[in-house]
Amino acid sequence: MTLTIAANWKMHKTAAETAVFCQSIRREESKFAGVDVLICPPFTAISAAAEALRSSSIRLGAQNLHWEEKGAFTGEIAPSMLVEFGTSAVIIGHSERRQIMGEQNEQINLKVKAAIKAGLQPIVCVGETEEQRMQGATNKIIEEQLLSALEGLTAAQVSGLVVAYEPIWAIGTGKAASPDDAEEAASMILRLISDHYKSEKRAGPIIQYGGSVKADNIDAYITLPSVSGALVGGASLEAESFSALIQAARKAVLH
Ligand code: PGA
Repeated sequence: MTLTIAANWKMHKTAAETAVFCQSIRREESKFAGVDVLICPPFTAISAAAEALRSSSIRLGAQNLHWEEKGAFTGEIAPSMLVEFGTSAVIIGHSERRQIMGEQNEQINLKVKAAIKAGLQPIVCVGETEEQRMQGATNKIIEEQLLSALEGLTAAQVSGLVVAYEPIWAIGTGKAASPDDAEEAASMILRLISDHYKSEKRAGPIIQYGGSVKADNIDAYITLPSVSGALVGGASLEAESFSALIQAARKAVLH
């Protein structure tokens, strides 16, 4: 089993800071066997990360993309511009983009399709707000976000995805979801996908949990039956804490 652990740096780190981080994390790389490690820096640091991660098994990801190949879209980044630097994955529909930038389900679907067309692995984020959870709407919200994001994809395309379950109230708050809640959402995502795409549950996408994941709680999530990875914000910003988290995940699952 491969674990997929991705660092979502959000709007942190200059190109110079990125190079320093990547040099440090490379020194730890021999401790990551069996873990698919991804670093998703800001766009302006992708070139520096690509350079520093050359011939490393740590993969490079981005945090967003536009669905068109080129055109009059001021401030946007096309899939080919990410591929040019060896980026192999992209976070799509993160709750901060949904909530702060007003990203809609339809746009997220266009982005997922554009990423796949360009050969990028989408990391599709879904998750409810605290209010939606209190109202008992969690499952409905996850289903809506998931099925609209995957609309029009083939079963084979869906099986290559990463889906990150990130309850919004757990992001950056230190208040991680309970392992039971994370498992309930992750298993529902796998069930929805196997129902819709008639795929084998085992061959389905990788499900990550995200939201206040750290070295000292990763074992509770990574050992859940439906979870095989994590999307990590705050704890991925220092090479030391990110390395500790990856090693803790390995220890819990791979021994
Ligand atoms: P966090 O962020 O680990 O800082 O909670 C996770 C995310 O937003 O992807």
